[in-house]
Amino acid sequence: MTSLQYLEYDITQNHNSTPVSTPVSVSVMATSDDYDVTTDDVNFRKATAADYDDVMSLRPHLYHGMDYLPSQYHHLLHTHTGFCGFIGNQMVGFILAIIIDDGETIVIRAGRVRKEHENKGIYSRLRKFCLSHFPRTVKRESFSLFSSDHKDSSILKGGILAWQRERITLTAGTATIKNIIKSVTVTNALRVVNKSLLSELFSSKSSPQLFPGDFIVVNSVPYKVRMSNISYFLTPDRVMYASYSESVKSSNSPPPVLVSVANQIRCEAGTRFNIDFYGDICVEEDVTNHIISQMARCLSECADNILMYVTYPMNRSDAILMSVLDKLRWKVKLRGYQYGIEQPVSSD
Ligand SMILES: CC(C)(COP(=O)(O)OP(=O)(O)OC[C@H]1O[C@@H](n2cnc3c(N)ncnc32)[C@H](O)[C@@H]1OP(=O)(O)O)[C@@H](O)C(=O)NCCC(=O)NCCS
Repeated sequence: MTSLQYLEYDITQNHNSTPVSTPVSVSVMATSDDYDVTTDDVNFRKATAADYDDVMSLRPHLYHGMDYLPSQYHHLLHTHTGFCGFIGNQMVGFILAIIIDDGETIVIRAGRVRKEHENKGIYSRLRKFCLSHFPRTVKRESFSLFSSDHKDSSILKGGILAWQRERITLTAGTATIKNIIKSVTVTNALRVVNKSLLSELFSSKSSPQLFPGDFIVVNSVPYKVRMSNISYFLTPDRVMYASYSESVKSSNSPPPVLVSVANQIRCEAGTRFNIDFYGDICVEEDVTNHIISQMARCLSECADNILMYVTYPMNRSDAILMSVLDKLRWKVKLRGYQYGIEQPVSSD
């Protein structure tokens, strides 16, 4: 039997919300199905802004220095709820959770456990603790994985593969990119997709083609194509552009052939530039226009070292995309997939 202590609260409230009850103790039976049985007593609670240093101390240099959490922690706590676990006074684990899709889905992300406490079931218990606080509207848990092994084991444990996307990490020097941007002319103006245009797009006939499986995955967070989700990802730090085929441009609301959404964040390795593509990445002019326009917007505040994290739909030839990136002097560091797993949540 493992003793857990927690504060009860409403996960949908922001990080300044007050716990709705006094601390309580519960007992949770640890079984080998759930996690390795440990004699450690782990106390769980909601994380606050004041926990920043402890959270950062859990796993320094994560993801080759591309971890978004150090620069995004405070910002993310406005929309997400953080949960942390302690052994004594030491923080040993952390996760972030957000409820999206009209309250139906919980997404858990940014999970990390102190190295010396790995493989003791702390992450699993933290996740369970978090899930035990979801509102009753939540039907499913949805999360992104980046390794095929973890995808397979999640499916074996009852998850379904709801979506999959290609991902590439690239690097470049800011000075080189700035020079290239000066020398390349954007030949075809892109349209900025604001909230109202995106609402139109979501309800249009072209939506299933652009957003297969009813998902738009932004910065690895999978949102269903719902109006209520738009304000979660079309935030002031992001711009979404759309390009249209010449032949349909004259019509009133033509379907875009390519959509990109991008932002930039500071991370240990430099400036990380995230760009997610939807639609057809096979037309050189379109792909070039999107990358140049998105980068030009961000470049003024870049560190010397600049990294790009690009995602795009599966089963499309990426030869044009790769050749454009190469021409723009980006060097590929890593390639792989993003896997989207969904599983029902139960209150046990
Ligand atoms: C991933 C991590 C949080 C797991 O913490 P932990 O306390 O050792 O995990 P647990 O002992 O509770 O094991 C939980 C499950 O996590 C799974 N897991 C391990 N690494 C994982 C990863 N990168 N992504 C998703 N799941 C992972 C394990 O397979 C295990 O499942 P199993 O019991 O079916 O084998 C920890 O290894 C860590 O901090 N890694 C670095 C950060 C990271 O990769 N985070 C990804 C999750 S968002």
